[in-house]
Amino acid sequence: MAYSILSEAARRAEVYLAGLDERPVAPSAAAVAGLAELDVPLPGESSDPSRTLALLDRVVSQATLATAGPRFFGFVIGGCLPGALAANWLAGAWDQNAGLYASTPGVAHLEIVALDWLVDLFDLPFGTGGAFVTGATVANFTALAAARNGVLARAGWNVEADGLFGAPPITVIAGEEAHPTVLKSLGMLGLGRSRIVRVPVDSQGRMRADALPAMRGPTIVLLQAGNVNTGAFDPFEPIIAAAHEQGAWVHVDGAFGLWAKAAPPLRHLAQGLENADSWATDAHKWLNVPYDSGLAFVRQPDTLRAAMAITAEYLPTATAARNPSDYTPELSRRARGVEVWAALHSLGRAGLAELFERNCRQARRFAEGLRAAGLKVLNEVVLNQVLVSFGDAERTRRVIEAIQRDGTCWCGVTVWQGRTAMRISVSSWATTDADVERSLNAMLRIAAE
Ligand SMILES: Cc1ncc(COP(=O)(O)O)c(C=O)c1O
Repeated sequence: MAYSILSEAARRAEVYLAGLDERPVAPSAAAVAGLAELDVPLPGESSDPSRTLALLDRVVSQATLATAGPRFFGFVIGGCLPGALAANWLAGAWDQNAGLYASTPGVAHLEIVALDWLVDLFDLPFGTGGAFVTGATVANFTALAAARNGVLARAGWNVEADGLFGAPPITVIAGEEAHPTVLKSLGMLGLGRSRIVRVPVDSQGRMRADALPAMRGPTIVLLQAGNVNTGAFDPFEPIIAAAHEQGAWVHVDGAFGLWAKAAPPLRHLAQGLENADSWATDAHKWLNVPYDSGLAFVRQPDTLRAAMAITAEYLPTATAARNPSDYTPELSRRARGVEVWAALHSLGRAGLAELFERNCRQARRFAEGLRAAGLKVLNEVVLNQVLVSFGDAERTRRVIEAIQRDGTCWCGVTVWQGRTAMRISVSSWATTDADVERSLNAMLRIAAE
């Protein structure tokens, strides 16, 4: 039976995931070297797909970084809720092209429901439009395409029809610590990476409201919910009020910080961001759904639609229901809303709040344990990010490499405000308090060597 391979994949996946608790987080050098076994010419003949699966599992599973495991604290990656993974598998079996409501109503409907839930959860204005995209980079790109449309339409210019040649110039204002991918998005939109007006930040990387320049003409202000190093939030209320007074569009990059809205004790950090005009976040980070999954939101859905919709005779785009591809850069794409819906449905408000609060409490525990051992924590731990120095840059890098080699846990290196540090990002549903203690002990043991 052709489909029996699916239970074989599920069995192998279960063994892999159950083993993550004990295996070293980083793949061994031998496992990475073993990938050479894949370097063969394209097979001439067909073979049994279960042999292909077995090869994949034997050679590649061990060459993965255990990001789905409980002690991965690198970047801001998050794990993968088993329920969300299961929904992803089922959606894979459906093989729906999620671009058009008329042809794939089931998944398009799920996305409408999930977007409504998210707008409510994030406290965004009623009627806000949204799009399911690959990640925050593309979510920022998508929302900023709407921003570009919005500010130029107000100046009497149709950017989708006439492009940027001869258009009124757009001023883009961003903090010194805007995420580098936001700059990439601006470059892709023709708004330029180098012509951004940078605003100084404070000791936590927050944009300084008192340093905001005066705004004239079409202007986009980029704010941040969750600095990738410190987890800090820009002061939304004064900046958004000043920007709106001067006719600017405000966009918030909330790749992981937007989720603070979903946990009552964290909500104050994100206070006021709901007054912006557009927002971007990731689901593959803190919502713990499988890669890849990001979300763009725009207060006035018409601007997003104007930037993204297509029309073609052969496409059944005319429908009373929301057509997903009217809001995304892609026409064809996978139904990534399915596992977002499943994660929200199964966790509910209480489960979401518990996940975000627990990870933030665990980040505070890391900071407390590191400080108690005499190490320097560089940031105010307001969310799930901890920056710790082990001394000078060279020593800090050496300790981080030793922690990665040890394999109990995995954290990355960063350079923040001129200081080299280890970045601990607690973003996984799978991380228990015992995992934090075990990781902390390993860090302290290695730092003392
Ligand atoms: C604040 C911020 N913005 C944007 C991004 C880019 O997100 P993605 O890698 O999902 O495209 C990240 C990733 O860490 C981030 O932390």
